[in-house]
Amino acid sequence: MFDVRACADQDEYGRAIGAIGQYFNPPPTEEFLERWVKMLPHERMHAAFEDGQIVGGAGAFPFELSVPGGSLPCAGVTAVGVHPTHRRRGVLRTMMDAQLRDVHERGEPIAALWASEETIYGRFGYGIASWAGELSVPHEWDAFAEPGASVGTTRFVTPEEARELFPPVYDAVRRERPGMMSRNEVWWEDRHLRQEERESDAPRRFVVLELDGEPLAYAIYRTHFSFDGGSASSRLVVREALGATPQATAAIWRFLLDVDWMGSVEVYLAPPDHPLFLLLATPRRMRYRMGDGLWVRVVDLPAALAGRTYGEGGPLVLEVRDAVCEWNDGRWKLDGGTCERTDDEPDLALDVSALGSAYLGAVSFRQLREAGRIEETKPGAIERADALFAWRPLPWCLEIF
Ligand SMILES: CC(C)(COP(=O)(O)OP(=O)(O)OC[C@H]1O[C@@H](n2cnc3c(N)ncnc32)[C@H](O)[C@@H]1OP(=O)(O)O)[C@@H](O)C(=O)NCCC(=O)NCCS
Repeated sequence: MFDVRACADQDEYGRAIGAIGQYFNPPPTEEFLERWVKMLPHERMHAAFEDGQIVGGAGAFPFELSVPGGSLPCAGVTAVGVHPTHRRRGVLRTMMDAQLRDVHERGEPIAALWASEETIYGRFGYGIASWAGELSVPHEWDAFAEPGASVGTTRFVTPEEARELFPPVYDAVRRERPGMMSRNEVWWEDRHLRQEERESDAPRRFVVLELDGEPLAYAIYRTHFSFDGGSASSRLVVREALGATPQATAAIWRFLLDVDWMGSVEVYLAPPDHPLFLLLATPRRMRYRMGDGLWVRVVDLPAALAGRTYGEGGPLVLEVRDAVCEWNDGRWKLDGGTCERTDDEPDLALDVSALGSAYLGAVSFRQLREAGRIEETKPGAIERADALFAWRPLPWCLEIF
């Protein structure tokens, strides 16, 4: 049997994080752990013990996730790993169970993660809740459909200046878009503004776009030089480019696409409603390739459902199956933005993972029905549920955590 509990000190913490290091990263250094503990405290890192040895770990960053019309405390699940010597003996299941109970007790209504493999987390109640894709704009196909006049001026800034100038733009976008995490100063510093030490990494470049002295857009990117048969084939890889207004968004993208000597501009984790699709005259040339993005787990069902905004319609009665968080199991009535237990006949029957998929508005109930993931127990309920849950813009989580 395994004993799973939160880490008590930095030594346990290092060994628990080291479990994922068996697969993806080298063993964590002291310096790495010092940085991480500022974002993921000991009590949010669970470890699985067998005879005093740590054989697995699972962490949860405490942050807020933007949801349709609001923002909710969210457990950002990370660093999940089990030693290869102990695989398929239920270590992950025991850790997921302990973690979800802890998240519930802390009053975080939702948990979210990026899945290393799509087959792992559905059984624990997580569902695909956003789409993310790669695209690459070839230099010769980077003209805008509506060229228009560019607004503002761009200038390079230092990481210290970026720390002041970028967060207001990010926060403005986050107020509109579901799926975005809150970022505190430590997160900005560690995840976005720090130059990584690896020699293979080109430096991060930071650009702000200002109008009348006000920051309206920014970009963080790297350039990778290459020269192919006499012509430039360098790549400009955008880590993040956001604008607080449509004009500023267009202007920051025009800046990035116009950098000389680049063969292509690449973007990762782009949602299907990314601004480039309609800014560009020839979006087909980007060869967008989409996959699953953020996965969401509804942990406290009434708090999660009451915590977002809805379209017209209702009431809606959901019969939810939840084998892990048994407190969610049963019938719930969503009416006028509140959610309570009910004995009324259900409109829809579904697993909590399907509810997680629908929660941020990226996956419709119609899609869930077509995939056999939901049962319509009253005619017309799918349409009513979609009218309630649909949301634009689509969720966009800009970074893998
Ligand atoms: C994925 C991993 C955490 C699973 O840990 P584990 O302790 O072997 O898992 P468990 O024994 O608790 O398995 C629980 C269930 O998940 C299933 N499962 C586990 N890993 C799976 C995988 N990679 N794909 C599909 N199913 C998986 C098991 O078959 C079991 O199913 P069941 O309950 O229906 O019998 C572990 O193999 C690992 O560390 N992998 C590499 C790192 C990684 O991918 N981490 C996830 C980061 S997001």
